[in-house]
Amino acid sequence: MEFQNIKYEVRNRIAVVTINRPDKLNALNKSVLDELKECFTVIKTNDEVDVTIITGAGEKSFVAGADISELSKVDVVSGKNFSEFGQQVFNLIERHGKPVIAAVNGFALGGGCELAMACHVRYASQNAKFGQPEVNLGIIPGYGGTQRLSKLVNSGLAAELILTGDLIDANEALRIGLVNKIFSLDQLMNKAIEAAEKISSKGQTAVQMALKAIISSDEVSESEGQNIESALFGLCCGTQDFKEGTSAFLEKRKPNFLNR
Ligand code: COA
Repeated sequence: MEFQNIKYEVRNRIAVVTINRPDKLNALNKSVLDELKECFTVIKTNDEVDVTIITGAGEKSFVAGADISELSKVDVVSGKNFSEFGQQVFNLIERHGKPVIAAVNGFALGGGCELAMACHVRYASQNAKFGQPEVNLGIIPGYGGTQRLSKLVNSGLAAELILTGDLIDANEALRIGLVNKIFSLDQLMNKAIEAAEKISSKGQTAVQMALKAIISSDEVSESEGQNIESALFGLCCGTQDFKEGTSAFLEKRKPNFLNR
């Protein structure tokens, strides 16, 4: 696939998607969102990809938010569409069915923080900075941030970040649970790839069913979520990977999963 504003590479069943507008600190314009949508539509059905890593080009920024020069032109109707399109793309990233790791290598502001939150695992570099500074522009987060931040940290911390527009550093993001781990900038991608390789080494049916069950916990009641869990558990029990995983354990050998 050829893109102008993102880079897409697949190696050893791991896709790396790099937002590639370093001169604009990787701000998300419409073309970036269009390309992310196309890219994840392909990843969804590409049997050669198990896990995706999203990062930003350069050493300064993951994504510094929605592109403010485009944003400044919207009105009531196009503003709503602007928000809905970003939500749609981020929902696709979150729900296309396979794990996504955010390797946050600098500023993750506004839409950048929202993009990281749409990923399933968040690793950050020591120089990363997070925030939802939209209030400084007279708007609110529009790509799912009010919802995901409240669930990921808690509504009090989400309110503080969104209402003040304050930025926090990687240590604070780790403390409040916004990121899973922090690494030096030069180690960040290696660690993200290491985690992706570990996930890729498992049976992918189980990985994808687990992800589906985890995501459902945001949307349904606990009892409905447990129904989903047991239904997906049952489906896993019908796979060859289940037979292989349990046999390998009992035979004291490494499993050889075929993702079937
Ligand atoms: N949209 C469009 N362009 C952006 C941008 C954004 N969200 N964030 C940064 N840029 C551009 C700048 O306009 C500048 O472009 P220029 O060189 O053509 O003037 C370039 O990226 C570098 O940014 P600059 O502000 O010079 O870097 P800095 O190190 O001084 O500051 C930030 C970095 C992230 C603190 C600052 O760029 C910023 O506050 N960005 C906006 C963050 C934001 O409000 N995001 C939410 C949007 S909804």
